[in-house]
Amino acid sequence: MNVLVINGSPKGRDSVTYQTIRFLQKKFPKDAFEVIHAGEDIEVLEQDMSGVCEAVERADMLLFAYPVYTFMAPAGLHRFISALKAQDIDMKGKYATQITASSHFYDVTAQRYIEDNCRDMGLKALGGFYEETKDLLDKVGRLQIITYWNYIKHIIDKETLTCREIRPEAADQYTDNYNDNDEGDDKLSYDKLSDDKLNNDKLSDDKLNNDKLSDDKLNNDKLSNDKKGGVRRNKNSKYSVVIVTDCSRDNIRLRRMIIDFRRLLPYESHVINLQNYDLGEGCANCHACMPDAYEEDADDFEAFIYRKLERADSIVYAFTIKDHSMGVPFKSFDERRFCDRYIDALSGKPTAYIVDGELSREENLKFILEARSQIGKSFTAGVATNEGVGADTMEGCADKLAYALEHRIRFNENFYGAGAKALLRSSDTVIMMKLFNRLMRQPFVSEKVEYKITDAINELYEKVIDGKSL
Ligand SMILES: Cc1cc2nc3c(=O)[nH]c(=O)nc-3n(C[C@H](O)[C@H](O)[C@H](O)COP(=O)(O)O)c2cc1C
Repeated sequence: MNVLVINGSPKGRDSVTYQTIRFLQKKFPKDAFEVIHAGEDIEVLEQDMSGVCEAVERADMLLFAYPVYTFMAPAGLHRFISALKAQDIDMKGKYATQITASSHFYDVTAQRYIEDNCRDMGLKALGGFYEETKDLLDKVGRLQIITYWNYIKHIIDKETLTCREIRPEAADQYTDNYNDNDEGDDKLSYDKLSDDKLNNDKLSDDKLNNDKLSDDKLNNDKLSNDKKGGVRRNKNSKYSVVIVTDCSRDNIRLRRMIIDFRRLLPYESHVINLQNYDLGEGCANCHACMPDAYEEDADDFEAFIYRKLERADSIVYAFTIKDHSMGVPFKSFDERRFCDRYIDALSGKPTAYIVDGELSREENLKFILEARSQIGKSFTAGVATNEGVGADTMEGCADKLAYALEHRIRFNENFYGAGAKALLRSSDTVIMMKLFNRLMRQPFVSEKVEYKITDAINELYEKVIDGKSL
């Protein structure tokens, strides 16, 4: 069988997940494994996908191997999926499977994301393997990996496919049925608010240091009129809401939704447009951000975004659904803020979502939105979409968020939060990572050990792959 491995880890050959692929190569020499280091080489691949297209043509099966990053596949793999879909290759009849390495924290949503995208591309999505990061170092874990691979081969041999139906339509053909409120239509219209006004969130340092985030530049609410009287209404500054979006210049639907939401919200709001910031290529799991976060040369996230979020009373997320996810900028954003320090500082702030797209058809994404809130101990006050059914209206969403702020709503965690917390508390890997991160925050440690640790980990896996016991 010709297997095309899509290695989604930004660590490339140093990835723990990739060691499982090497193990399979050793154990199943009759299968031909070809590897694309999609996570590590994404910048290059995006420029030229011809090699990828040829490799896909040759393959009987695509095997996605990647670590779980913040409920999902890493940002680089999101980009790769998007680039692959754009190639319009005929993949019908080919199979797809996946291996994730993680602490099992929301590995299900990550795999469902890949599965949904495989189906969009016409691939027959088989079940995946949920590996614990250190499974390969353990005899039972290794046996399970071998069993999984034999099972996948059996399904293919016998054509005993039980995969769900392929979706008939592409994921991004969303309806354009968002209705502006007639009464305020001329005041809400896209034309009246230029790009600059929506995207004016890139503040200089001195402006950020100003405690009052209600800087004239940001506070473009003054531009919108009150629905009834048509007079300028100053927003109440008792609470400050930050709307994080990745709204591009030509995304008129989302832009209008944000403008509408801001008009309806009684409290002042500010927009952070991720399009204006450099969040890098997502997390490379290099731990460099840990000590750097305290240095003067902090990156865009630390210097601009985090400081605004920290001061906000509520954070709202506005996005267009892309390939069954919040899209690449949000993926990089989530990866960047996925450490205790940020999660703790931003926790407890009520949140809401403004979603352009058919969220009612995206069970997995709905799951992820709720998980994001639960992990951040935030109450999801509302989710407004432009579908017209099954979600909050923009007015309802703004009203519910205002109520949540005024009443300081912070309910108990549900299963998404409590379950995940229990898992994290009991996971050796996570405890080790926390300890490691704390150590790495000490500059004298990080300078000395950064590369040695990767080498030491690689050495462990090398022994296993070579058949030597630990
Ligand atoms: C930014 C970031 C986000 C992560 N998010 C998750 C997560 O949501 N769930 C989980 O179980 N592990 C998470 N992890 C841990 C990785 O899945 C784990 O380190 C993985 O084994 C690394 O694999 P690799 O060496 O193949 O890149 C995260 C790690 C990083 C750096």
